[in-house]
Amino acid sequence: MKIMVIGGGGREHAIIKKIKENKAVEKIYALPGNGGIAKDAECFPIKATDIEGIVDFAKRTKPDYAIVAPDDPLAAGCVDSLENIGVPCFGPKANAAIIESSKVFSKNLMKEYNIPTARYEVFDNAYAALGYLDDAPIPTVVKADGLALGKGVIIAETREEAKTAVREIMEDHKFGKSGDRIVIEEFLEGPEVSVLSFTDSKTVVPMVSSMDHKRIGDGDTGLNTGGMGAVAPNPYYTEELAEQCMKEIFIPTVEAMNAEGRPFKGCLYFGLMLTDEGPKVIEYNCRFGDPETQVVLPLLKSDLLDIMQAVTEEKLAETDIEWYEDSACCVVAASDGYPAKYEKGYEIIIPEDLWENVYVAGASAEDDKLVTSGGRVLGVTARAKTLEEAIEKTYGILDRIEFGNKYYRVDIGQKALKALK
Ligand code: AMP
Ligand code: GLY
Repeated sequence: MKIMVIGGGGREHAIIKKIKENKAVEKIYALPGNGGIAKDAECFPIKATDIEGIVDFAKRTKPDYAIVAPDDPLAAGCVDSLENIGVPCFGPKANAAIIESSKVFSKNLMKEYNIPTARYEVFDNAYAALGYLDDAPIPTVVKADGLALGKGVIIAETREEAKTAVREIMEDHKFGKSGDRIVIEEFLEGPEVSVLSFTDSKTVVPMVSSMDHKRIGDGDTGLNTGGMGAVAPNPYYTEELAEQCMKEIFIPTVEAMNAEGRPFKGCLYFGLMLTDEGPKVIEYNCRFGDPETQVVLPLLKSDLLDIMQAVTEEKLAETDIEWYEDSACCVVAASDGYPAKYEKGYEIIIPEDLWENVYVAGASAEDDKLVTSGGRVLGVTARAKTLEEAIEKTYGILDRIEFGNKYYRVDIGQKALKALK
């Protein structure tokens, strides 16, 4: 089988390494992939957002199956376009990807179908939003409606901060059209849990839970990033909570999407906060999370491609999905300075025996060398019987990987370890 994977980060590398385990896979095309992914797949310099380019490529190469991983091509209808030319896909169509690409849509969906989430108001003009903020409870959360490279959420500690956010989004158009509407919502507190799930719109099968580490600095300090590390499973997410979420959140969400005429097929990601009032949805993503995928997929015992195809064919209910009982830890190594300014072009040295633990995110291949080309450069994942061992193993491996200006957090998994004790 020839498989096409759209995207080019650590998450896509994890997906590619996993589907390579399937004996029927002969070729994997990555669009665009990256210098590291090039060791595991054939990379082609076609951007994930270039839907026309992707469709042309598919017409020429006739892949048997496509996996569309990032949010923007999903929102732009990449799956619809590929299915139109007869390529079966993993990932939701645009009309279902809206669950991530419009926060106004997802908040209204949750309200309408009684799915627990933060209380909120929607605004389409700055004047009304600023007026509302005069006596809204503080802290508060301001969210741009559309996709904003993960930067569209502002937690405001003061009224002034919230108003500045509104002005930047709605008057200065910091996120372009994504900020034409905003959501202002209640600030929630509690441990955060990521639950990725497979769903074919009839059945929903949650994957192992995980915990992201979004801030750049140790102790969850500093700027937000694309994710600096993750662990799985998430110790806060007990069996009881899993049952409650299945009943109150996962099934109702899938059913709500069906009722709206927007059946969701693919990976539906639930970003949850475990509040005193019970679990609530912070966000939905219409795709695998990054870097959660880099800890969740290594714990999957069953064949990923088989599961994905079962999702496409709506046969998930008949598919056995097994997990290792282990824990996994992923630590992301970035270029120092990220998420602000950083330098690139430094050679990356990865000892051959460590390759299976490495997911490359931002590197390009130059004259047989791998050099840094992005903020987040690579992630290292290790699996072990306990979380403590997994963390130790991960950092041991990361120590042996070298590149200029390497920066990483030293406390990935510590919060989870504390919760276990
Ligand atoms: P998002 O871009 O929707 O993933 O939001 C980014 C992060 O902002 C989340 O992972 C949470 O840590 C935080 N966040 C979003 N909404 C809320 C909320 N209502 N209350 C507290 N924190 C929030
Ligand atoms: N790790 C969060 C996300 O993928 O959006």
